[in-house]
Amino acid sequence: MITVTVNRTEHEIEIEPSLLLVELLRETLRLTGTHVGCDTSQCGACTVLIDGNAVKSCTMLAVQADGAEILTVEGLAKDGELHPIQRAFSAEHALQCGFCTPGLMITAVDLLSRTPAPTDAQIRHAIKGNLCRCTGYHNIVNAVRSAATEMRGAAMPMKTPAEVKR
Ligand code: FES
Ligand code: FES
Repeated sequence: MITVTVNRTEHEIEIEPSLLLVELLRETLRLTGTHVGCDTSQCGACTVLIDGNAVKSCTMLAVQADGAEILTVEGLAKDGELHPIQRAFSAEHALQCGFCTPGLMITAVDLLSRTPAPTDAQIRHAIKGNLCRCTGYHNIVNAVRSAATEMRGAAMPMKTPAEVKR
């Protein structure tokens, strides 16, 4: 029996010791937004936040998550509002098939929690374990940068005409 809090809801679950965390999420809890792309820890499609850290859930046994707080893509939106990273991926056309998108967004949320104003190089470094096979990374980097700006509340107030003249 393990206890996990997934997307702010606590679950007590009887599981087989060999169950992978990604299987617990997808098959037991039916949270199918977390994808399986490779099963060998290379593609990042299965990335979730565990106690705030991005982890590839295909590389971890569910029992290792006992007591943990897990956030999956389904938990990013809150009170009916999309997370800024979700809005940015949509606005910047940072997805095509979308298979890689949940993992990329979770990785980005992890990055932005530690580095609120990342450079493009830092964004590219952070997402290097997440493979996208159809979009290319340009718009993904734009989306993460734009979500960072929104999350910092960094939109500069418009200058008044008097300030512009000076
Ligand atoms: S399915 Fe986990 S890294 Fe690819
Ligand atoms: S959008 Fe298709 S794999 Fe990334």
